Amino acid sequence: MNIHVYPNDLEASAKAAGLIIEQVRNKPDSLFSLAAGSTPLKTFSLLVEAVRQGKADFDQCRFASLDEWVGLDGSVQGSCRQTMNDHFFRLVGILDKNIRFFDGKSEDLTRECADMDSFIEGNGRIDMLLLGIGLNGHLGFNEPGVNPDLYSHVTELDPITKQVSVKYFDPPQAVASGITLGLRHVMEARTVILLASGSHKAEIVRSAFHDQGSPTERIPASLLREHPNFHLCLDQSAAEQLITTNAKGD
Ligand code: GLP
Repeated sequence: MNIHVYPNDLEASAKAAGLIIEQVRNKPDSLFSLAAGSTPLKTFSLLVEAVRQGKADFDQCRFASLDEWVGLDGSVQGSCRQTMNDHFFRLVGILDKNIRFFDGKSEDLTRECADMDSFIEGNGRIDMLLLGIGLNGHLGFNEPGVNPDLYSHVTELDPITKQVSVKYFDPPQAVASGITLGLRHVMEARTVILLASGSHKAEIVRSAFHDQGSPTERIPASLLREHPNFHLCLDQSAAEQLITTNAKGD
């Protein structure tokens, strides 16, 4: 586990963007999966800037979605697809043929999952995965207690996830379940980056990653401790309890 702590969110986001730019330079046809949500938005801005300055080129890359709210598709403000379109895909001209995104409105979600698994398998495996962390330790919609052996699946949302979801939607959306890549995809990805910022993430970051903790599916993010190529990018506020706990050794 590589832990990177920066004085502020912008610098932590720049580290994540730097790792993504390095990846695309080394392998121009990389398969990425990038989390939506609030946390990666600064990283996306930095990537868009890099493309505009000719420092990165994603034209040959493919993108698999991480997750989507069941019942929503890219026409809904606040959906994962809309967020990715508005903050990254459309701004850098990613072609639809290079994107495989969960359609949360599909009448056949089992098929959505199977198609996503085939897409990823057909491309080898995910080269680089950018994740956020939920306040309950979820990754994508791999909620606490998830079976770590799953690939794509549909899940009922944890009460904390439903509560937090209100920040994404105006007008409000009643969300009850999610469709997501599974922890097998996460653990099989060649490189995983988890970005977290802000003091509201400090407690879950400590629970998932402090020195004496053991990986457990009750805190899905903690399983990343066993990933062979994992970067944890934090700002000072999100890292605060982790640093204190590790330094104290308790
Ligand atoms: C959301 C999504 C995740 C996201 C996480 C953190 O519910 N399912 O993909 O990474 O929770 O979100 P945020 O970055 O908005 O805190």
